Amino acid sequence: MKTKNIFITFLFLSLLITSCKTSEKKERVIGKITEKAMVVSAREEASKIGAQILKKGGNAFDAMVATELALAVAYPYAGNIGGGGFMVYRKNSGEIGALDYREKAPLASSKNMFLDAQENVIPNKSTLGAMAVGIPGTVAGVFEVHRKFGTLSMEEILEPVIKLAKKGVVVTAKQEKRIKYYQSSFLEANKDSIVFNKSWKENDTIKYPELAKTLTRIQKNGRDEFYKGETAKRLVTFIQANGGIITLEDLAKYEAKWRTPVTFTYDDLKIISMSPPSSGGICLAQIMNAIEPFDLDKFGHNSVKTIQVIVEAERRAYADRSHFLGDPDFVTIPQKELISKAYSAKRMANFSFDKATLSSDVSHGTIKIIESDETTHYSIVDQFGNAISATTTINGGYGSKLYCSDLGFFLNNEMDDFSSKPGVPNMFGLVGAKANEIAPEKRMLSSMTPTILEKNGKLHMVVGTPGGSTIITSVLQTILNVHEFKMSMQEAVNAPRFHHQWLPDEIKMEPNSFNENIKSELIKLGYTLDETNSPVIGKVAAILVLKNGHLEGGADKRGDDSASGF
Ligand code: GLY
Repeated sequence: MKTKNIFITFLFLSLLITSCKTSEKKERVIGKITEKAMVVSAREEASKIGAQILKKGGNAFDAMVATELALAVAYPYAGNIGGGGFMVYRKNSGEIGALDYREKAPLASSKNMFLDAQENVIPNKSTLGAMAVGIPGTVAGVFEVHRKFGTLSMEEILEPVIKLAKKGVVVTAKQEKRIKYYQSSFLEANKDSIVFNKSWKENDTIKYPELAKTLTRIQKNGRDEFYKGETAKRLVTFIQANGGIITLEDLAKYEAKWRTPVTFTYDDLKIISMSPPSSGGICLAQIMNAIEPFDLDKFGHNSVKTIQVIVEAERRAYADRSHFLGDPDFVTIPQKELISKAYSAKRMANFSFDKATLSSDVSHGTIKIIESDETTHYSIVDQFGNAISATTTINGGYGSKLYCSDLGFFLNNEMDDFSSKPGVPNMFGLVGAKANEIAPEKRMLSSMTPTILEKNGKLHMVVGTPGGSTIITSVLQTILNVHEFKMSMQEAVNAPRFHHQWLPDEIKMEPNSFNENIKSELIKLGYTLDETNSPVIGKVAAILVLKNGHLEGGADKRGDDSASGF
């Protein structure tokens, strides 16, 4: 009897300890929760301005305009009016759509413009200074969104943004480091000293009076101020004085374009993502179609088998991406076939858990492509149930590093997203394909993947990230972390990420984040791991609609990201 009691007590205590340990392990990390509306972006100031517009009764489209332009002030590293982007929306009625406000190649551009007489790529020409600049699309983009869906006046929307530019923005620790890192390039790209040459320290405030004046003129005169007005003239004079080829005609001809988003299913999810000229939606569809038949939830998060399946799907999708994708107005893309489940099944037919596939054994194996990793993303859900997912960029950190002090903004170096010469590496040691070669008025291929998910016909998640070619795989893992591994939105954003893009044939992993045993097993299976020089693997900004209809924000600790709402 006594023995039995001791045994029962022991059993009870063991169960208690086990359950304590389990609950310890399962302690959830939850992001900011709001009841009705939320904006998540790379800077607190921009998220707050977006949320403020919603609070005033504006919708997600009004908030998009405000957030995009507030990022141009608060986050000059990637936020912009000198660049471009993509936006995917889902209205509360279920209507979906996408806007392409990607930069274009100037009329005077040509296939070999970045090559010398011997047809060698001229170092830095597509990345630094005025020749690297594509025709900016951001101002056209926000005005087009507002024309179609806006409810508040542009004057009202721009007011807090202009106020922020005048008042200035506090430098964060991360920003201090970034400015320092790029200062030698600022000196190289600019004839005159620019505001970012100063040695800014954390907690200093940088004011942007010239940008405030530019935005005030845009507020007063509308879209054409940037493309045909005084701003256009001053911008063209500046670019040409610095050796660039953009003309007034280029600016006047620029139009943002409505596109049909890429849609596909994964289990019970409907995924709505960006169509070409971004590779994001097609590539995401290919990867998700390829992994759908596998039981990732049983394999476990970041287990060897899960990593293998995802890596092998990524390898195959990125090989196709390099070969087939470009501006759909210039090249024919076999989109229907690429995103069919049957095609992905065919591509995965030679995958085995026993050993890594070699990238050299995957077709189209002679070319590779990538974009620079600096971009920014914001996600919005409004109090009416409309959702926006937008990613915007000037390509490299601070774009071409060419700063128009007169107008108060950096210009993009998006021309580097074209392949300067098929088969020859760009400054990142990477090469591109014929589908993405330069032509006048063509849009350069992108990886930006603004994405919205539906579950059971209802809004489920809004997600996106910067990160160049790692954008697609970061969006993928964030979705899988919630859907397969039942993480909260914030946990899904926080979780360590990895990336494979066919070439180079290696898995990039966030340093010091993966289990040693898992890494050794992967190496044994023939995978090469790169933890040393990994680029930033995204800074995800996401919103999850919870079962009770409230919203959970996922703001990435890898950046200064922040969620705001009510
Ligand atoms: N410039 C980065 C991208 O478009 O993907």
